[in-house]
Formats: sequence, structure tokens, C-alpha cells
Amino acid sequence: MNYLKISTLVISILLFSCSEKKEVQVTISSPDNNVEVAFNLNENGTPTYKVSYKNEAVIKPSTLGFEIKNQPELSQNFEITNSEISSFEETWEMPWGEQLLVENKYNQLKIELQETSALKRKLTIVFKVYNDGIGFRYEFPEQENLSEVFISDENTQFNLTGDHKVWWMPGDWDIYEHLYNATKFSEIDAMSKANHPNLGQHSYIPENAVNTPVTMKTENGLYVSFHEAALVDYADMTLKVDTTNFSMTSELVGSENNDYKVLRSVPFETPWRTIQISEKAGDLIESKLIVNLNEPNKLGDVSWFKPTKYTGIWWEMHLNKSSWDYGMTDVDGKWVDTGKAHGKHGATTENTKAFIDFSARNNIGAVLVEGWNTGWEHWIGFEDREGVFDFVTPYPDYDLKEVVRYGKEKGVEIIMHHETSAATETYEKQQDTAYALMQSLGIHAVKTGYVGKILPKGEYHHGQYMVNQYNNAVMKASKYQVAINAHEPIKATGLRRTYPNTISREGLRGQEFNAWASDGGNPPSHLPTIAFTRMLAGPIDYTPGIFDIKFDKWKPENQVNTTIAQQLALYVVIYSPIQMAADLIENYEGNPALQFIKDVGVDWQQTKVLNGEIGEFVTIARKEKISENWFVGGITNEIARTIEIDFKFLDEGAIYKATIYEDGHDAHWDKNPTSLNIRTLEITNKSKERLQLAEGGGFAISLIKK
Ligand code: NOJ
Ligand code: CA
Repeated sequence: MNYLKISTLVISILLFSCSEKKEVQVTISSPDNNVEVAFNLNENGTPTYKVSYKNEAVIKPSTLGFEIKNQPELSQNFEITNSEISSFEETWEMPWGEQLLVENKYNQLKIELQETSALKRKLTIVFKVYNDGIGFRYEFPEQENLSEVFISDENTQFNLTGDHKVWWMPGDWDIYEHLYNATKFSEIDAMSKANHPNLGQHSYIPENAVNTPVTMKTENGLYVSFHEAALVDYADMTLKVDTTNFSMTSELVGSENNDYKVLRSVPFETPWRTIQISEKAGDLIESKLIVNLNEPNKLGDVSWFKPTKYTGIWWEMHLNKSSWDYGMTDVDGKWVDTGKAHGKHGATTENTKAFIDFSARNNIGAVLVEGWNTGWEHWIGFEDREGVFDFVTPYPDYDLKEVVRYGKEKGVEIIMHHETSAATETYEKQQDTAYALMQSLGIHAVKTGYVGKILPKGEYHHGQYMVNQYNNAVMKASKYQVAINAHEPIKATGLRRTYPNTISREGLRGQEFNAWASDGGNPPSHLPTIAFTRMLAGPIDYTPGIFDIKFDKWKPENQVNTTIAQQLALYVVIYSPIQMAADLIENYEGNPALQFIKDVGVDWQQTKVLNGEIGEFVTIARKEKISENWFVGGITNEIARTIEIDFKFLDEGAIYKATIYEDGHDAHWDKNPTSLNIRTLEITNKSKERLQLAEGGGFAISLIKK
């Protein structure tokens, strides 16, 4: 379904004299008139913009422009050669997602600029103004004096109106697996987060900057979140902070191999710079601004990928119960079984079949198998990682064809795993063969990994080189009907709309940190923060569902810092079209809480955020796509609280059998995390229910329509 309306509005340009030169201002509002952007060419011919919401300033006048290698800055002496205002409205369908239909409705302002100085370079700036915020980008049109552009940096300013409360993570060029910090803007100190001992891979924080999404609450209670959309053939934008003037400026991720950060040939356009604005925190989660700013689906029918729950040979390695590697020996560049197998290898045919059986019994559609292929003897800690991993050769105790056959018999798919160890040339070379193998076996999803310092040396995970690596992998995989769930990824910027085989990704401190971090793991405030920050970017492969919260048998020093009820709630709260049941089989068998994982949907026709405050709590209700059933999940930070749910969102007149999985009265994330109460009742859209959430707790509700 796709209905479309484009109309051209009348443009109003205010010209007013300022010394000899003219200042020019053009304004444009959102369809509901609440958000307004004013574009202004100041007396130096520098482009600036400001943003307001219901007449209250959100962004004060902020300048736009670039530093270009071997050329003067592209930031002043401009005049407007043309400008256009138009409006657009369509409704598009998500092949999988948080909801079936997405409204994409905005007013657009396009300003074409040209320098009055010698080079007469041209630059176009496009603003799209939505009811839930704005996106703007730069376009470099075809022109005489600019064919190849070496961008040394982009200088897009965001001047804030005060010392807002900010949920931020450091502007690391290599990794997003930092905890979010909640401070005043003036207290942002990214450098204090450098050299974190527990990161899963390389980290590089060059200055006081933050990564996006970065979310803020103003003194007047407005919520504002900054990010980018459609990051294609460009570098990730971090935001450098000026803590004195409450200002942020874009700082692109660079490379040690080049004295510029982005190289492009004209014509081209930058990613969209986005500002989501809302009165309620939950509206940020419901906002579809990021996907709307991306191009429509270029792949057509992707029904070969089916949203699914999955189990996996995974947590057991993080607990040290088993290992990824088999114990092969490198003999003249070939992996040979010289009898040194240590017997701890996890990815065996037998173990995989046990996961397939368990999944088939519990309405779980797939099994991830990590450590199935040769090369794991030589990954973390080695500099020379090119040419090591092989994405088609299984270890001797793993029969790939047989597990795929057995899975098909039971209705369970295998999820492939490609840990590249950040050796990009090796992966690039093997992609066609590896994806073709998957296609020949009917495997439609792969989890990729980029642990370690990027090879070639000098590149960072978030620079233009790697942005292209991640995007090219997705595009290549689509040709083989393969969908990608990337770990150690580039951040999500809504490209799942254009390439819907971009299914999920990590890009945050995932559940794995609870298994091995020596800083105590993810605190109870982590996920109530993630829901309003990282999750605004796109789907998250957090890997919930740990039932053995303390896992003392394996790692007495580590634990998950939530109750078991919160682990269930995460299937609804944290969105992903693939949702892992991450624990060991033996921890699920016989536990009545497993029923929720069995029942819960994984693809949705509707999503409603019922309540929430950043870093404190959030409740989300989602209606399954293939049924009329609803699921509700609520989580809290370290503070216990009572939450009342008004079920008015349910269908009028319908009766639902509700099963509530809630914290026991004595539950506590540390003292008693597995205390769980399960009760069933009938619920209608007139019902209201009070739920008690323990410290670090939560609740999950299945509402099965009768
Ligand atoms: C890091 C990933 O985040 C984790 O999920 C995976 O198990 C390891 N790399 C091995 O690839
Ligand atoms: Ca990771």
C-alpha cells in the first residue's frame, strides 16, 4: 500500500537590510505547525538555521558548513539561487517491524546556494519538517569547481537553549558498547570514559564528544534526541560538545590513513541530521522519523526472511561452559586436527540438535551456532588476523548439512555466524562463497561480528571505510536472500527501510557484559535508558531471556542485574525482528516462565508506549501481526514502583485471556531475582491493573484474544 501526495506551497522569504548585504530568512513548519525551522543566510552569507517547538526555541541560530581539504571552507559568501517549499504525504508498509503501516508526512524546504566568491561552489540544503522533529542534509550538486570532495570535517552546529539533562555515551570511533551517562550538558566528560577495561573490542575516544542517539530533557520538560538517518558512503557523525556555551558541532569519524574524513565525487548527499522532539518521553520511541528519512524498499519482496525467536550455542561460551574453538593446529596456513582437541567445543552436531529439539518444542524458529567454522584458535589478541577465519569450512565435529536437514525436519532454521575478527579483506573476499553456501542450504540469516582493531590498520569501526564495509555486506547478502544481524556494527540509521535484510544489530552493551564484565555488568538503569536512546536508532539484538540470573555454577563473580520478570518484559520492550532466548536449555526446562517466551510475538502490527521516563521505567504494548493478541512489557531501574495499566488500547468488546508474569512480593534484582508470580485473568478494554515492580524488576503480560 502506498499513497502519495505532493503539492507545492507558496514560499515566503523575508528580506531585510543589514548594513550593505541582505539577510534572508525562510521559515517552514511541520504539518501540525508545532515544529518550525527558520533558515537564514547571515550577513557573511553563512547558512544558519534555528528550530522551535510551539514557539519555544529548541535550537538557537546554528551555522552550517564544511572544511574541505586544499580549498577554502565551504561555509560563507553564499547567496540563494533558488528555493522551494513542498509537502509530502504517504503511508508505507513495513515488511516486518514495530508496526505495519507508517505515516510519512512532512513539509520540505530546499535551498540552493552558490558562493559569490571566486570558486562559485554550489551547495543545497534540504530540511524536512515532521510533527515529530526534523531532518536536514546537504546536497553537493554537479558543478564546475568541485568534482571530488575531500571533506576534512563537517561543521553542523546544534546550539542548545540551556544546560539540559543529557543521556550520553562517549563519541568513541570504534565501539558503542559504553554505558549511557546521565548528567547535565555542562558535565559531559567523554574523556573520563577512555580506556574502559571491559569493552568487547577496541576503543578510541579522541575528544569530548558524544555518539548518537543522544537524548536530552530541557528545563521546560521537552524531550529532544539527536541522531542521523541514511548513513551511506560517509563517516559516522559524533557530536563535539562545548560545555560552556551548551553547543554541539558535528565531528566526523576519521581514519589514520587519510588527511580527510570523507571522500566523495559530486553529485552526492550527506546523511540526514535528525532532531526528534516530543512532549512525552514515550513519543520518542513511537517516532518513525529515522526510517521515514530513508529511501523506500529497494529489495522488493523479502518474505524469505521471517521474524523469529531463536536459541543458540552462544551463552555457554560467554559463561566458559564451552568454547568457540576446537583445538586445531595451524600447519603451513591450514587448520589441521592434530589430536589437540580439548573436548570443550560447543558447536557440535549433537549440541545443535539438542537446541533444535528444544526450539521446536517451544515455538522458537531458529538456532544460532557460533564457533562452527575454522579459525577460532587465532582471533582475539592476535594482530595478524587476515586469512584466518574461513566461512565455509566446519570443524570436524560439526556437520553443517546434517544440522540444516535435521532443523528443516523439525521446522527450525539455522542462523549462520560469521565472526570476521575485523579482518575486512578476508571477509570481503569470501562473502560471495559464504552467502552462496547459505543460499544453497536455505539459510536466510547470518550474525556477523567485527571484534578487534580494524584491519587494514588505521581504520576505525565508524569511519567511511567501514560504513561501506557494513553497507556492502548487506547489499551483497541480499542477492543471496541473506539477512544480516551485525555485532560490533555501525550504528543503525534507518537503512532497514531501504534494505529490509538489515534485520538487527548490537551496537550497545548487550547481555554478554553480564557474563564477563568486571565492572558489575549492566546496571538496572541500563535498559530503561537504552529504550529512549540507542533504541531510537533501530532494532537491537540484546539477547534477553536469562533465567539463571546468578549462574553461580559458571561465573560466581558475575550476574544479570534484573529480576526474571524483567528478562521476560524485554521481549516486548526491546524491539528486534529476531529475539533470542539466550539461556542454556537446562535453565529453561521445567520453568513455568518459559511459557511467555513460547507465546510472545516477534513481529507487530501496532506499538504503543504506555508510559516511561528516561533511565527510570517504560511500559510498551505491542499487537502481534499474525494474530489479534497483545503483549505488554514493563521494566524499571533500581527503584521499585507501582504502575497502573489502562487496557483501553484493546479491541472494544473483546475478551482476552491474560497471563501476568510479575515480580514476586519479595523479588529484588540482587537479593531475590527469580521470585516470580504468574496469574491469569480475563481482561477487556475497560480493565485496569496495578502492577508492583521490584527493584530492577518488571512484568510481562500476554493477552490472548478469546
Ligand atoms: C561479540 C559478539 O557481541 C558476541 O555476541 C559473539 O558471541 C562474539 N563476539 C563472538 O563472535
Ligand atoms: Ca559485542
